[in-house]
Amino acid sequence: MDKQQAIKIEKLNKNFGKDDSFIEVIKDASCEINKGELVALVAPSGAGKTTLLMMIGCVEDPTSGKIYIGDELIYDNKWLIKDRRKIRREKIGFIFQSHYLIPFLNIIDNITFVPELNGKTKKEARVKAIDLLKYFGIENKEKAMPSQLSGGQNQRAAIARALANEPQIILADEPTAALDMQRSVDVVKMLKKIATEQNVAIVMVTHDERMLPYCDKVMKIKDKKIVIDEKTSL
Ligand SMILES: Nc1ncnc2c1ncn2[C@@H]1O[C@H](COP(=O)(O)OP(=O)(O)OP(=O)(O)O)[C@@H](O)[C@H]1O
Ligand SMILES: [Mg+2]
Repeated sequence: MDKQQAIKIEKLNKNFGKDDSFIEVIKDASCEINKGELVALVAPSGAGKTTLLMMIGCVEDPTSGKIYIGDELIYDNKWLIKDRRKIRREKIGFIFQSHYLIPFLNIIDNITFVPELNGKTKKEARVKAIDLLKYFGIENKEKAMPSQLSGGQNQRAAIARALANEPQIILADEPTAALDMQRSVDVVKMLKKIATEQNVAIVMVTHDERMLPYCDKVMKIKDKKIVIDEKTSL
């Protein structure tokens, strides 16, 4: 089967500030990520990992360059799509280091709320959410509040939420940073399984080299550019 493109960036640039506070974070960065791949994004603190993820996620404005989501060119020196929130809701799932479940909604409502925003009925959204909770082994936590779950359970719920909308792309910013080694491996293996089984492209920022063997590719930011190691040192 041909590889299907999930994300492509071409000569992407990102600067912040001006005059004394001017900083060039990403310069002429290019890469392609295919569906079904779990890609680790590894670079020192301040290298621009979160910034890159947020540009791909249509949250942060690039300075210039091109971004494709699937085959669609969505940024070409300016945004080409009117409603960036819609593309975020429909095509992209986000997972963060500290999971950002909504504290005053129980676990199932945290998972159903975006699909409902996207027009799924409450019932459809619930059926899907319960499937996901089962998949992640936390179906008994359906009615619990986020504060009543352990760190690992919360992170699994956050991954379930990112999947609820069947996104083409998952962007995960240090999803295992708050977890111990065993839980981290569990989460990364789960992400790998999701990438393969659901043909989703996952970009995962990590500082933990022990997670790299579970990934298909390692993407680094070097001299403000993206360098890809295809399973080199793994
Ligand atoms: N809104 C902003 N305004 C100005 N500078 C910013 C802004 N956001 C990020 N930066 C700068 O851009 C650079 C890259 O930041 P970014 O958060 O992308 O790094 P990172 O690789 O995710 O680091 P970490 O591993 O610590 O999370 C840093 O020098 C940061 O100070
Ligand atoms: Mg960061």
